[in-house]
Amino acid sequence: MMRLHTHPASPFGRKVLVAAHELGLAAEIKVEHRKVSPVEPHPEVVADNPLGKLPTLVREDGTPLVDSRVICEYLDARAGGGRLHPEEPELRWRALMLQALADGMMEASVLARYETVLRPEALRWPAWLEHQKRKVARTLDRIEQQAQDLDPEAVHIGLIALACALGYLDFRFAEDGWRQGRPRLAAWFERFRTRPAMQATLPRDLVA
Ligand code: BEZ
Repeated sequence: MMRLHTHPASPFGRKVLVAAHELGLAAEIKVEHRKVSPVEPHPEVVADNPLGKLPTLVREDGTPLVDSRVICEYLDARAGGGRLHPEEPELRWRALMLQALADGMMEASVLARYETVLRPEALRWPAWLEHQKRKVARTLDRIEQQAQDLDPEAVHIGLIALACALGYLDFRFAEDGWRQGRPRLAAWFERFRTRPAMQATLPRDLVA
């Protein structure tokens, strides 16, 4: 059995689990929920990943894999290869570019979350938070403009990452209303979010 250090609210952890469900590998992964933050590394995560970051996958032989991109490629290869990372060059670059944009939105959103709930009030810097949010808004606008990449029938790593980024915005930043002015992205997500892999991995807080 593989083991996955993750957190039920982590969009990167969700990306790995959605990929595992889509590939039929979820039953081979034991999920171990960890509470971590940049200032409170979890010793069991650090033992497997010196960066102390989630998600970290530990293979059956004990060797760890990070980060979510590497883990998703590993799972895809383990399932036979080429199912979530298209082999046809142009499709592949488009999927990987979308994944990079979505991962960047997740990173900016998680940093914005830390800034609002973790950083002591006296050390907060509103302009920094605002710029993380603008990064997300610009990227959403760009994806809305290039909505031809949002094939409603397709499932690949770029679309999975995008869905997890949008799911995280709904979970932590619902009041920002990302759907406003982005009808094509909203329509695509309305459909993708009903996939069993998405429903099985809905974000939630970790209850101690
Ligand atoms: C969150 O609570 O929003 C969160 C938890 C773990 C990783 C990323 C985000």
